Amino acid sequence: MPKEDITDIKIGVLGGGQLGRMMIQSAIDYNLDISILDPDENAPCAHLVKNFTVGKLTDEELVYQWGQQFDLITIEIENVSVAALKRLQDEGKKVYPQPEIIELIQDKRKQKTFYKANRIPTSDFVLTENAKDVAAHKEMLPGVNKLGTEGYDGRGVQMIRTEADLEKAFDKPGLLEKLVDFEKELSVVVARNEKGEMNCFPVVELSYHPEQNLVEFLFAPAQISEKTEQKAYTLAKDVIEKLDMVGLLAVEMFLTKEGDILVNEVAPRTHNSGHHTIEANLTSQFEQHLRAILNLPIGSTELVTPAAMVNLLGEDGFTGNARYEGMETCMAMKGVYVHLYGKKLTKPFRKMGHVTITDDSIESLKVKARKVKETLKVKA
Ligand SMILES: Nc1ncnc2c1ncn2[C@@H]1O[C@H](COP(=O)(O)OP(=O)(O)OP(=O)(O)O)[C@@H](O)[C@H]1O
Ligand SMILES: [Mg+2]
Repeated sequence: MPKEDITDIKIGVLGGGQLGRMMIQSAIDYNLDISILDPDENAPCAHLVKNFTVGKLTDEELVYQWGQQFDLITIEIENVSVAALKRLQDEGKKVYPQPEIIELIQDKRKQKTFYKANRIPTSDFVLTENAKDVAAHKEMLPGVNKLGTEGYDGRGVQMIRTEADLEKAFDKPGLLEKLVDFEKELSVVVARNEKGEMNCFPVVELSYHPEQNLVEFLFAPAQISEKTEQKAYTLAKDVIEKLDMVGLLAVEMFLTKEGDILVNEVAPRTHNSGHHTIEANLTSQFEQHLRAILNLPIGSTELVTPAAMVNLLGEDGFTGNARYEGMETCMAMKGVYVHLYGKKLTKPFRKMGHVTITDDSIESLKVKARKVKETLKVKA
């Protein structure tokens, strides 16, 4: 990529969802040349870039041909043709995150095996081929059964607390890991450029919706000790270095009751646990991702203000053209920032947007976050 000016670099992004949409918002500030590939002609990024192509992200030939026009290719979703990206990389295109890393992360089995081989702390697990196999590992209960591939947003995750739950086990290749009785779920988003410069965003804590396995509330900074915080940064940097990855990596972690940190899983891209950085940090995760893949200086991740984030999910029981209820009430609240993703159709629990809330204390953030959650509704 021997170009002098970053605006001359043609960047192709696989995926045109909300993450791509917010990446475009950042790219605009630097006049970056972004093109998008997505299977949905009505994707959140449609009409936002001149070069928006409709096509399947897992179609090797299509992705390979599409990729020809760029200098640099990146992703906003992992479910893409790695074979095509490898061919493009072999022909001299820059592909960040590297295809080998996307391949590793596409399969939770490979991911967990990588942690074990690289001495990255993670919960104990066994690889399983089918439901019978899961049932043969009663010593792992209470456990969590995960599909190797194609699970996302909690859809490939099954709690197997007791033997009676074994009937729910996935009858496909996956893994069974020990249930972690965690104190908190934490996340660290870390960036790394070609020069090896790295920086972590402040640790955040997440609370998941008990049934949907989706992030319900996020708080930044996490309410943890200084020692735990440092441990989390060391771990996140260790993972991105061991992967030798260029780009942005979200590291989902469990803080155990004993004070240990275990890696749950990682995502080699911008992540739901970094959305608040748009308002709350000196550099947003979207800008940081662009800085990392373009080998630009990694920005300061300093928190400007404590923040909370609430995902705006389609209300249960409503499917159809989305209508937003309670917008004005939320917009009247100080430090409340609504982000809608431009999705025409709502369905139960679909991610339709998010809301970032800034305030001086975690206590007031909690109050406001609840209020937002109760007020803002997506119906049809
Ligand atoms: N070993 C475990 N012990 C306890 N809870 C777990 C374990 N593994 C997963 N969970 C819970 O299930 C959630 C979803 O699991 P995981 O992150 O592996 O799945 P996912 O489908 O990739 O989710 P997402 O796409 O939302 O990140 C975790 O955030 C955590 O709350
Ligand atoms: Mg997860």
